[in-house]
Amino acid sequence: MELSADAIMQMELEYGAHNYHPLPVVLALGKGAEVWDVNGKRYFDFLSAYSAVNQGHCHPRIIQSLVDQASKLTLVSRAFYSNELGPFEAFLCKTFGYDRMLPMNTGAEAVETAIKLCRKWGYQTKGIAPDKATIAVCDGNFHGRTTTIISFSNDPDARNDYGPYTPGFISVPYNDVASLEQVLSQENVVGFLVEPIQGEAGVIIPDDGYLKQVRALCDQYGVLFICDEIQTGIARTGRLLAVDYEQVRPDVLILGKALSGGVLPVSAVLASDEVMLCIQPGQHGSTYGGNPLGCQVAQTAMEVVLDEKLAENADRLGQVFRQGLTKIQHPMLKAVRGKGLLNAIDIDPTDGCEAWDICLKLTENGLLAKPTHKDTIRLSPPLVITDAQINQSLTIIEDTLKTF
Ligand SMILES: Cc1ncc(COP(=O)(O)O)c(C=O)c1O
Repeated sequence: MELSADAIMQMELEYGAHNYHPLPVVLALGKGAEVWDVNGKRYFDFLSAYSAVNQGHCHPRIIQSLVDQASKLTLVSRAFYSNELGPFEAFLCKTFGYDRMLPMNTGAEAVETAIKLCRKWGYQTKGIAPDKATIAVCDGNFHGRTTTIISFSNDPDARNDYGPYTPGFISVPYNDVASLEQVLSQENVVGFLVEPIQGEAGVIIPDDGYLKQVRALCDQYGVLFICDEIQTGIARTGRLLAVDYEQVRPDVLILGKALSGGVLPVSAVLASDEVMLCIQPGQHGSTYGGNPLGCQVAQTAMEVVLDEKLAENADRLGQVFRQGLTKIQHPMLKAVRGKGLLNAIDIDPTDGCEAWDICLKLTENGLLAKPTHKDTIRLSPPLVITDAQINQSLTIIEDTLKTF
């Protein structure tokens, strides 16, 4: 007998850790920009697994490469070479214009890798005194969930009661060049870790020119510019990377999520010879990092992004979508912002009604989105979404808002 949606949700509630608060929908199938629940009801997916499913659910080319590779070789660890890792490394370095890459699995692991790499570079190249290396980060950041990463978060939910915290980080206001300069000019600062758009904070877009100024300041003070493009990268914002809007090149680039099209956890850190070769054999690694299955899937997932021109689609449909949202007249709809298909709306919570309540109603009406805070809803569908689907989604959003 098939389990009902209620029974499945009850099992999570009873047997799972309560570290998430999902919308009450139990999904069983996905194709492109759409997903279906266990009862066969269809939804537009406007979360895309936090921008991991840029290529759309179960993209046939990516799934084929998964199936083909899975029957050949899945994992050897890095104790041996595999026939997949070297070619994938070369492909990724050429695609993004870096000398070398280091493969990991989750985004948080890649951020950890970048932090370790930056510290090593600081000690070995800048001659920083032992244990003094400091990395600048931004208020409102989200870079993952490890103990070190939450040590420099200012979100109480992410941070509280997980101490003692890892030292060596200084937080500056996002999009504030003067504060950044003040910190970068201090002794022992070796890196600046930043998201080109703050996704989890509510799709916060810095002023035009901010990233260029970041680049210039990092050059001026001999500090590594470490860019976390885990959520913004791989065509999400209408360019292959969000930094492409300002034509700046970070010293250390962090990728994850859509690098593998939502099929397997594959992340990567890219850097120059000078930086990457600070890490020697035995000094960092991961059993699954660079596994042949992940390499094959990620290479295909990247080829899909390039061949299907998903950055162009995200750019064009992002504009159509924001224009449509801006036309919606509703007192609760306070603001519309975004780049490409990374968008958000701000909600004026009236009569105790919050973004969460609107997301519940959107779910009922066939569109899945999650609030990032009480008053912000991120709207980021897979980049394979069509004009017709964008228009249907706009109708659902407008009709839903009208019921409040
Ligand atoms: C900008 C950014 N960095 C890092 C992460 C962490 O990635 P993961 O959940 O794969 O560890 C996320 C996840 O949302 C993210 O948005």
